[in-house]
Amino acid sequence: MTVAPRPQWRENVAMLVPILLVPDLGPDREDLAAYEARAGYRALRRALEGPASAVLEAVDAARLRGRGGAAFPAAVKWRIAAAAPARPKFVVANGGEHEPGSEKDKFLVARRPHAVLEGLLLACFATGADQGVLYLIGDMAEQIAAAEAALEEARAAGLVGADILGSGFSCEIRIHRAPSTYVAGEESAAIDSIEGGPGKPRKKPPYPGESGIDGRPTTVNNVETLAHVPFIVREGALAYRALGTDESPGTMLFTLPAEVAHPGVHEVPFGTTWRELIDGVGGGVRDGRAIRAVHPALSAGFVDAEHLDVPIAHETLRPLGSSPGCGGVRLVLDGDDVVARLLEVARFFMAEQCGQCPPCRMETNQFVHVLQAVQGGKGPGFDAQIRKVADFARKKGNCSLIEMAAAPILSALDVFATELATAAGGGA
Ligand SMILES: Cc1cc2nc3c(=O)[nH]c(=O)nc-3n(C[C@H](O)[C@H](O)[C@H](O)COP(=O)(O)O)c2cc1C
Repeated sequence: MTVAPRPQWRENVAMLVPILLVPDLGPDREDLAAYEARAGYRALRRALEGPASAVLEAVDAARLRGRGGAAFPAAVKWRIAAAAPARPKFVVANGGEHEPGSEKDKFLVARRPHAVLEGLLLACFATGADQGVLYLIGDMAEQIAAAEAALEEARAAGLVGADILGSGFSCEIRIHRAPSTYVAGEESAAIDSIEGGPGKPRKKPPYPGESGIDGRPTTVNNVETLAHVPFIVREGALAYRALGTDESPGTMLFTLPAEVAHPGVHEVPFGTTWRELIDGVGGGVRDGRAIRAVHPALSAGFVDAEHLDVPIAHETLRPLGSSPGCGGVRLVLDGDDVVARLLEVARFFMAEQCGQCPPCRMETNQFVHVLQAVQGGKGPGFDAQIRKVADFARKKGNCSLIEMAAAPILSALDVFATELATAAGGGA
């Protein structure tokens, strides 16, 4: 598929509240000495002096939500895993980022691998896991090299392996190389790949927390989610909740597209408005064109330009039929061919669905067919057709790709109602 050119990573010099993207660190991988110089591994050292439950309580009190797209409360998942008696127990740091327009996980692993590693170790400690897996895509050479180097440094410093820092807590961490597909980032697909399978989503239940890798309790978290944990443990839940909003605490990484003056990965607190993010942090649209809509992530609903002053948070975007998603922001600008942009999204999901679930195959194919008809000016009834297909397919897949593919198209029916009706030849 054609997507916006991969943006260059750029440190956010205008950042207000650095948790993950500390400025002035230079363009290279942050090594152990540099990470420790900015309080790195202090959270782990402190945590290991107390009970594992204290870490879980801090993450719960911080109301940390997943950054992999679904915004699930981390502590809820961790509690299930912590309560499971079986050993071995696993935590997977999901860095299988494959969504066009999203670069933040690749950025974190390549440039701040110790923050991810410390978060992963804290999650293992909190859930009683003795095995951590850093899940990366096999062709991510830069990320794999950075993770391997960080792991080696951490192991040499006694931060990974047996009896970490003499605390009695032992935890092995390894890197898994996943297939380069979108679905391989889904948590049960990740487990399948780690077990040696093709990396396709599995039917749930059982959920990974009960039965994951080799049937053992497994917690899967996005690498960004984990990278927030050291700050929470070190500075406290209240300091974390002082940032962001009540329901969406803390900061989030957003990847801004090539159309803005400063594309790349930026960290802002939740509650920042779209206008502040795009015009303030991102420097505005390069060619001065007006924004028609914001697409917070490929699988999120579109946000009409009339809502550019809405603060970015789960609770403010939900009523608009959208979400922060994984923060791989795309822009629809005045003059863009809306139907072509929608087809690009629909074709991505059609190509990336794994073929296991007939309703998902049907839905993603139908979206493309209906939008092609609209593009050809032969789309009367497209609105009803799209809604019918999405209604039929909902919840009928092994994973939520079936809902993720529908979200942007359904929201487009409202946000781009005029453009779609015009293209279709007058009638929805
Ligand atoms: C098709 C599909 C692809 C996904 N890709 C990713 C991914 O690349 N990275 C990720 O962290 N989560 C991905 N997820 C979400 C994971 O299933 C899971 O919810 C997430 O890793 C949990 O982490 P979090 O709770 O910290 O967000 C994907 C989900 C689906 C349905």
